[in-house]
Amino acid sequence: MKPNPEAQAFLSQRRSRVAKLFAGPVPDHQALRGIITTALRVPDHGKLEPWRLVVLDRAAMLRLADLAEARAVELGYDAQKVGKGRGQFDQGQLAVVVISSPKGEMKPLVEQVASAAALCMNLLNAAEAAGWGANWLTGWPAHDPQFIARAFGCVAGETVSGIVHIGTPPEDGSDRPRPDIDRVTSWPKGRVPA
Ligand SMILES: Cc1cc2nc3c(=O)[nH]c(=O)nc-3n(C[C@H](O)[C@H](O)[C@H](O)COP(=O)(O)O)c2cc1C
Repeated sequence: MKPNPEAQAFLSQRRSRVAKLFAGPVPDHQALRGIITTALRVPDHGKLEPWRLVVLDRAAMLRLADLAEARAVELGYDAQKVGKGRGQFDQGQLAVVVISSPKGEMKPLVEQVASAAALCMNLLNAAEAAGWGANWLTGWPAHDPQFIARAFGCVAGETVSGIVHIGTPPEDGSDRPRPDIDRVTSWPKGRVPA
């Protein structure tokens, strides 16, 4: 295979943007289909397709903000947690919810969940490559079985891997510190120059 310097440059600089700073416009239907189609080229052991996607538009966000608040009240959460639960939906314009939906026991559960996480990562990359900002969020509602059942029709065994917001970020904004390769990587002795 030939090197692809543009892709290398893209991947070496990619970063998430902060969803709460997103403004319009957001991708239209065709643009979003393109992003999702690209993202669905995701590793999937056994071709099980152990995930499903739910697209949220502004109307859905408003509904989910109220649903999150109602659930927070049921759970006896304080105002801060209510605010956190509503936050991403109050501010969101467009997002793709990636739901891990394991298909039987032919392949280990951990691999099926990993494929859903890889799909979230692919969505970030596909959106950014198409010129949009993207941000992978979760928050307590994403991990609350009652909320995700009401919000996304999740059934037993399904979990939310991520809510990937896509929009127009501000021009500026800095990168975050990146991991030290030597702190997290062990090398075979012969590979490291003396
Ligand atoms: C599974 C997962 C869930 C996350 N949930 C949140 C969240 O709820 N709120 C938040 O501010 N950041 C959350 N983050 C972190 C953001 O996605 C953050 O912007 C990201 O780690 C920045 O990294 P990047 O620039 O390398 O993409 C989450 C990250 C992951 C992997």
